[in-house]
Amino acid sequence: MPNPFHLLLLLFLRLSTAATTNTIGVNYGTVADNLPPPSTVATFLKSQTTINHIKLYDANPDILRAFANTGISVTVTAANGDIPSLSKLPSAKSWITTNILPYHPKTIFNRIAVGNEIIATSDKNLIAHLLPAMEALQKALTLSNLTHIQVSTPHSLGILSSSEPPSAGAFRRGYDVTIFAPILDFHRRTKSPFMVNPYPFFGFDPTRPETLNYALFKPNGGVFDKMTGLNYTNMFDAQMDAVFTAMKKLGYDDVELVVAETGWPSAGDPNQPGVGIENAVSYNGNLIKHVNSGKGTPLMPNRTFETYIFSLFNENLKPTVSERNYGLFKPNLAPVYDVGVFTQQDVLL
Ligand SMILES: *[C@@H]1O[C@H](CO)[C@@H](O)[C@H](O)[C@H]1NC(C)=O
Ligand SMILES: *[C@@H]1O[C@H](CO)[C@@H](O)[C@H](O)[C@H]1NC(C)=O
Ligand SMILES: *[C@@H]1O[C@H](CO)[C@@H](O)[C@H](O)[C@H]1NC(C)=O
Repeated sequence: MPNPFHLLLLLFLRLSTAATTNTIGVNYGTVADNLPPPSTVATFLKSQTTINHIKLYDANPDILRAFANTGISVTVTAANGDIPSLSKLPSAKSWITTNILPYHPKTIFNRIAVGNEIIATSDKNLIAHLLPAMEALQKALTLSNLTHIQVSTPHSLGILSSSEPPSAGAFRRGYDVTIFAPILDFHRRTKSPFMVNPYPFFGFDPTRPETLNYALFKPNGGVFDKMTGLNYTNMFDAQMDAVFTAMKKLGYDDVELVVAETGWPSAGDPNQPGVGIENAVSYNGNLIKHVNSGKGTPLMPNRTFETYIFSLFNENLKPTVSERNYGLFKPNLAPVYDVGVFTQQDVLL
């Protein structure tokens, strides 16, 4: 039994935790054969961490059931291959009936991600049906009175033809007006966010150590953007501002941004540049502090982005060593490293 002093301390800590922003979520990927049962994961996240958002790459019913009554918001993903059929309203309605209605409202859905990195697939059929599928799912949600659930789709930074300096950010030619303007218009109309997957891990130059420090939020010389007169001290801000500039050039700088994926591998192949626990701690730890600070970026001051770290677990069936080592946790729930996502109460009491 905790004594009264402990109870007071607990109350104080809960109040002080509630006062700080927490917009950190995790991608709950399941490409593994050794993960704990979803109910164990749900209890663990709720009782021992500050993580209050998860994103799934599917709409796994066991996971959706497990997160009922946890207060943790869930983003579900409609599979890439389902996009052509989802562009028709009856299929979109039946997708909502199967994947949302049985679990709502005990499971809190904040968003449906329609496919993942569709533009990067270069599949003309998927790209052509992407926005129609988003529109149909939105319509289906409206018909079920679930307008608080947003519809979006995550993009890789390959959607940009240029990203350095950030003021040069632009969408790929041929996609800007025909693909991105209508998608951004959908987001403006439905008050849903544009979702991006920035990975400074893929942006640094192994032959220039200072670019690694820039990617890792470590002290570095910074990058000066002559066009705006702004100084960048980390690559995450630069990547986000490049996306923002691309949106602004099309007239959509009012649309919210969500970081659907970002992360850093804690291990990789021998001699693979940049991988390792120390760098993963630096990137993810500093990213969480940066996002929760509410500082925003040079072009988006004071804006906070809901941010989903990739990923919750190390996933042993991913193809490469580095891809298997993005997790914050091992399958036995032991932290791979601690980036400050444990609830303080449990540590102190
Ligand atoms: C949605 O709400 C409207 C207005 O309150 C109501 O008439 C309708 O029956 C509701 N539809 C569903 C599917 O709950
Ligand atoms: C940019 O920021 C870096 C890191 O704080 C600093 O070293 C550098 O002098 C700054 N450059 C300019 C032009 O302000
Ligand atoms: C951002 O917040 C700071 C501190 O509260 C304030 O001084 C500044 O004016 C804000 N900037 C914008 C663009 O809102």
